[in-house]
Amino acid sequence: MTADFRQGFVSHTEDIERTSLPVTGDLPAWLEGTLIRNGPARFEAGPHSYRHWFDGLAMLHSFHLAAGQVHYTGRFIQSRQYARDTAAGSIHYSGFAIDPCRSLFSRVMSVFFPEETGNNTNVNVARLAGRYLALTETPLAMEFDPRTLATLGVVGYDDDLTGQVTTAHPHDDPDLHAGINLMTHFGPTTQYHLFRITATGRTRIAAIPVQQPAYMHSFGLTQRYIVLCEFSFRLPHVLKLAFRTRPFIENFVFQPQQDTVFTVVDKVSGAVVARVPADPFFAFHHVNAYEDGDRLIVDICAYEDAALIGQLYLDALRGPGGAPQVGQLRRYSVPLAGGRATWELLSTDSLDLPRIHYRRCNGRDYQFAYGAGGRSGTQDFLNQLVKVDVKQRTSRTWYAPGCYPGEPVFVPAPDAAAEDDGVLLSVVLDAAAGTSFLLVLAAATMTEIARAQVPAPLPFGFHGQFFGGV
Ligand SMILES: [Fe+2]
Repeated sequence: MTADFRQGFVSHTEDIERTSLPVTGDLPAWLEGTLIRNGPARFEAGPHSYRHWFDGLAMLHSFHLAAGQVHYTGRFIQSRQYARDTAAGSIHYSGFAIDPCRSLFSRVMSVFFPEETGNNTNVNVARLAGRYLALTETPLAMEFDPRTLATLGVVGYDDDLTGQVTTAHPHDDPDLHAGINLMTHFGPTTQYHLFRITATGRTRIAAIPVQQPAYMHSFGLTQRYIVLCEFSFRLPHVLKLAFRTRPFIENFVFQPQQDTVFTVVDKVSGAVVARVPADPFFAFHHVNAYEDGDRLIVDICAYEDAALIGQLYLDALRGPGGAPQVGQLRRYSVPLAGGRATWELLSTDSLDLPRIHYRRCNGRDYQFAYGAGGRSGTQDFLNQLVKVDVKQRTSRTWYAPGCYPGEPVFVPAPDAAAEDDGVLLSVVLDAAAGTSFLLVLAAATMTEIARAQVPAPLPFGFHGQFFGGV
């Protein structure tokens, strides 16, 4: 086995039953709950590769923290795709960057009827309306038991909201007491649907027609507005998607001559209040956004173009070439009364997989962003954690040679006064040791408080959440 970061792209085949992890250091007594993370963990079906990192089969990982102890469980999501592909040893469902050779009819059906997808929900988890859901970019979520990680089933909605692609980054709106998400309906009239999710179902906020839809992995939410960032990575001909000969994402084209557009939508009325052009760029992740007089501040992990998507094919990641790019933390100033958006760099440290103190700061002026980045001067996979003070424009990092940390999840201390009073939880691959560990950092200082050793290298994940009381 390779001794570098590529261990994070090795396929797993089995669930890992609940096991107690040895802990070094001292876990805070208040840190009780479960970190649940999601990500691809098996990249082949028989002799066939899923090709792209984003198409690997979903596995949930839980770290239950209580009374100074940590227990780990890893379990594959029992999706339709998991069952069929693993049993048959072949690939049967379309994904982000794969489209198995099937009849034209099947391909059209899989685009226009989401129940024909494999429901490989491998991107994120969320607690929405009291249910624990695994999410991806096709609309149907998978409910799971947060204690055992057992798959409970597909969550569908009996309403007239339709679409083929959504985001795995819904927002939680404390004013509306609802989740908010975006879904794109591709068809003769393509529309972005914005909607609320509550225990009683989904309600449309807006339906926004679009000629050349952008690929959007996330969006921003201020106190009044939903902020769509329509990148210059767009689908030039929507109907080609239905009759496509290429996998989903390979139909999108980065168009360097086409502006990126911030589309600002009133979250209550659904009215489009501004469309603000910016120079072309691409991103997966919004960090935060807020209102500042007659402009919006939109912080985002930005890339010059969409080349990163190509760098995340498994052949590229596992091959001898360079490591993928990492984004720049940019602050866009978005004028609501006319003019173009402009940006400034918030940190010279690269950053993606961003997190903030969400409950306190989302949609509001804030001070600290956290993420994973690439250490300056290294040509490597994500190899450090970064904390950026977006007011002082300073940063602190956590780095250990040969270690590859994932997304840092911020957990606030109870009754915390300071915004950064709390811990960051990150699952780290220790390549030299051939194992992973759960790292607990003091968010204020970015210094290690404790770690819990996993007896195996875990595949890199995308996103996770900390659920108190579970
Ligand atoms: Fe994401």
